[in-house]
Amino acid sequence: MLKAILAIGVAAISLSGVDGQGTPDRMTEKGESSIKDPNLECQPYLYEPVASALASFPGIWSGATIVDGDTNALAKWAAIQPNVPDIPPKGTLQGNFDGLNYGSDDPDCWWTNTKCVKPKASGIPEDIWIMPEPRTLGYGFDDGPNCSHNAFYDYLASQNQKATMFFIGSNVMDWPLETQRAVADGHEVCIHGWSHQYMTAFQNEDAFAELYYSAYFFDGPFPIIKRPKPYGIIGMQAIKLGAGVTPTCWRPPFGDVDDRIRAIANGLGLRTMLWQYDSQDWQVGVTPDITSESVDHEYQLMIDDAKKGMFNTAGTIMLFHELDDYTMSEAMKWYPKLKESFDHILPVGVGYNVTQPYVEDSITQPNFIQYTSGTGSTLLRNSSNTSPGSTVTTGSTTPGGITEVRLDDTVKKTGDAARLGLGWNGGASVVAALLLGLAFIFFGLSAH
Ligand SMILES: *[C@@H]1O[C@H](CO)[C@@H](O)[C@H](O)[C@H]1NC(C)=O
Ligand SMILES: *[C@@H]1O[C@H](CO)[C@@H](O)[C@H](O)[C@H]1NC(C)=O
Ligand SMILES: *[C@@H]1O[C@H](CO)[C@@H](O)[C@H](O)[C@H]1NC(C)=O
Repeated sequence: MLKAILAIGVAAISLSGVDGQGTPDRMTEKGESSIKDPNLECQPYLYEPVASALASFPGIWSGATIVDGDTNALAKWAAIQPNVPDIPPKGTLQGNFDGLNYGSDDPDCWWTNTKCVKPKASGIPEDIWIMPEPRTLGYGFDDGPNCSHNAFYDYLASQNQKATMFFIGSNVMDWPLETQRAVADGHEVCIHGWSHQYMTAFQNEDAFAELYYSAYFFDGPFPIIKRPKPYGIIGMQAIKLGAGVTPTCWRPPFGDVDDRIRAIANGLGLRTMLWQYDSQDWQVGVTPDITSESVDHEYQLMIDDAKKGMFNTAGTIMLFHELDDYTMSEAMKWYPKLKESFDHILPVGVGYNVTQPYVEDSITQPNFIQYTSGTGSTLLRNSSNTSPGSTVTTGSTTPGGITEVRLDDTVKKTGDAARLGLGWNGGASVVAALLLGLAFIFFGLSAH
């Protein structure tokens, strides 16, 4: 009997993330993702791993620079620096390029100037800006995590739709549990700079810091959470800290990239992802001529192009944002029409068969065939057995032996919180103990 009560108590906590009083547990991803009230979602919370690491990061929402005494960052930068072409920074961080005397031959493949996606410097891969498979849409959202994204993420989950989320390092620091939700929901998380400014305006080292502190994993000493081999010790970078993974892809804010910035990103193992169509959704209320009607028009233009057969050879990528309630509502409003207009809507990496989206091999995502045939889902690989297909055997197993899991379920089940660096801090067990105590009292009273 007691076991059953305890099991019910624990199950209630882990299913809903809500304690006995109906108050969401704001220390776990599951609790945070169960909140329905957008105002509560956006009330700041203190997430200990981030709070205790603030001094190791650049200021939140300030242009990044290498933190004093960060020998790991300096060593990484020293390794990348020789491969960075000698191109001077351009314009201002706010994107004022007036008076810049830039060659019309676009000598350093500056996307902002000519939409150039094939680097002119050697050793850098081409940008990703379309989808290789026909009638396929690469579905991605910039600027998250937004604190009140639960309604949007619930909607995507209800449609069994995954997307690529390009997260800003500063937002990740503010909203680490929202970052975890994206990973736990099986979205592909990429980075989008630390402070969301024009990348080609940064000095080399600062451009490096904008990317490094947002994402990059390193194997150096760090006091927060010890990880077992082979990972050494957890890195100090934002997405790593917030969600336990290190992205391998990025999208330049405003698309502002040239070969200097590409080389820095490439040195950090980040593939550059751009777009072909732009919804302009973020500019409503910012740019005078851009209104919700004009954004609808941009969506419609791409849908019309799909109808005209323009994606019959290769698919496309359109730019959308997880910026605020408007951009997310707009995405939900248009999703059914996008579904009608394309054969497949996918995270960008899935269209390129990127099955290991993070540096760590603990999470894999389906390839194109698996995703589109419904035989694969995002999975967390069993850490003690890294052969393909060996997965944690909880949750609903699909025919391919692939299992979909919530990250913190697995952490709880394997007791391997350190490996993921997630926020499983024992809070639920405290609540469970309290429930157990109440159960004792209740049954103690009713039995007599
Ligand atoms: C998220 O969206 C809400 C509602 O539009 C907005 O008030 C808030 O500033 C956004 N937060 C973030 C972190 O983007
Ligand atoms: C992805 O894999 C499928 C199946 O092997 C293949 O047909 C397709 O060309 C691959 N796509 C890319 C971009 O490599
Ligand atoms: C992981 O794999 C090992 C070896 O195959 C197995 O003993 C262990 O029970 C698995 N762990 C989980 C959580 O499935």
